[in-house]
Amino acid sequence: MVANLRLPFDVDDGKDAGVFVSAIRQHGKTKLAQLLADLYIDDDCLVRVFDTSQAWNSSNIPTKVTLRQPHKIVYPSDQSIIFDISRLYLQQQRFTIQTILGTDFQTRVESPNPKLEQWIIYFFEEAQIILPNGSLRANYAQEAFRTISVGANYNLGYMLITQRPADVSTKAISRCGILYLGKHFESNDITKLKKFLGWRKYNDTHERLSSLKKREFYHFDGNKATKFRAPTYRQYRQPTEFNRPSRIRGFWGNIWYHIKDF
Ligand SMILES: Nc1ncnc2c1ncn2[C@@H]1O[C@H](COP(=O)(O)OP(=O)(O)OP(=O)(O)O)[C@@H](O)[C@H]1O
Ligand SMILES: [Mg+2]
Repeated sequence: MVANLRLPFDVDDGKDAGVFVSAIRQHGKTKLAQLLADLYIDDDCLVRVFDTSQAWNSSNIPTKVTLRQPHKIVYPSDQSIIFDISRLYLQQQRFTIQTILGTDFQTRVESPNPKLEQWIIYFFEEAQIILPNGSLRANYAQEAFRTISVGANYNLGYMLITQRPADVSTKAISRCGILYLGKHFESNDITKLKKFLGWRKYNDTHERLSSLKKREFYHFDGNKATKFRAPTYRQYRQPTEFNRPSRIRGFWGNIWYHIKDF
């Protein structure tokens, strides 16, 4: 269960600082993000996932909104949600994310006391699409930049997930206070990450990152980097007769999950 989970993560730091997760394909980024999403939800945050490849179908978030047309976005704003944007083209995905972020932000700005509102944490899968290099001034990235720069004042947090840090805006990564870095070996990626980690030598960075195995990450909090292995994560649904009232908000219904240390 979540309580036994050994992960270098502090929910309060995550909310304030913003989180960046990167590794090459199939090295456990999404699973790690799902573990962290559970911790946020456990802490009474709302989670909003922009899922580009239906990878979150197996997560514990019960509400999924499948978007087929970018201008028809209807969702229950008081719930954690997976937005399945896999059917949309790239421009439509950007437009959709922009609309959702803009709406939420506007609601918070109008709130009499935004710091008392429930935290919303956005999970950006394929961050290189939403915040690519040089996108600081691009129209499609305005809302995302606003969220990652001033969102914390309105209780809006985020997590950026990518396979290619070299393609993600440096201005966006540099705003993240917590980094989870998995395996990388490509020189542009290493060069970029080296700067953030404060590891001066390219060779050291290359050696440390390229030797990581699946599920292994460096956790970097701006001060020191600690290597860890994400616990295995398995989600399953129990038959209804085994339902228990969930300790994590009412709508968790018949979804159970199980987390085990490696
Ligand atoms: N913590 C974990 N617990 C259990 N299985 C895991 C874990 N991490 C990774 N896996 C396994 O590895 C596969 C890939 O993990 P995941 O989808 O998280 O990788 P990814 O880095 O997000 O990949 P992609 O770059 O393709 O999105 C999963 O299908 C799962 O079977
Ligand atoms: Mg993934």
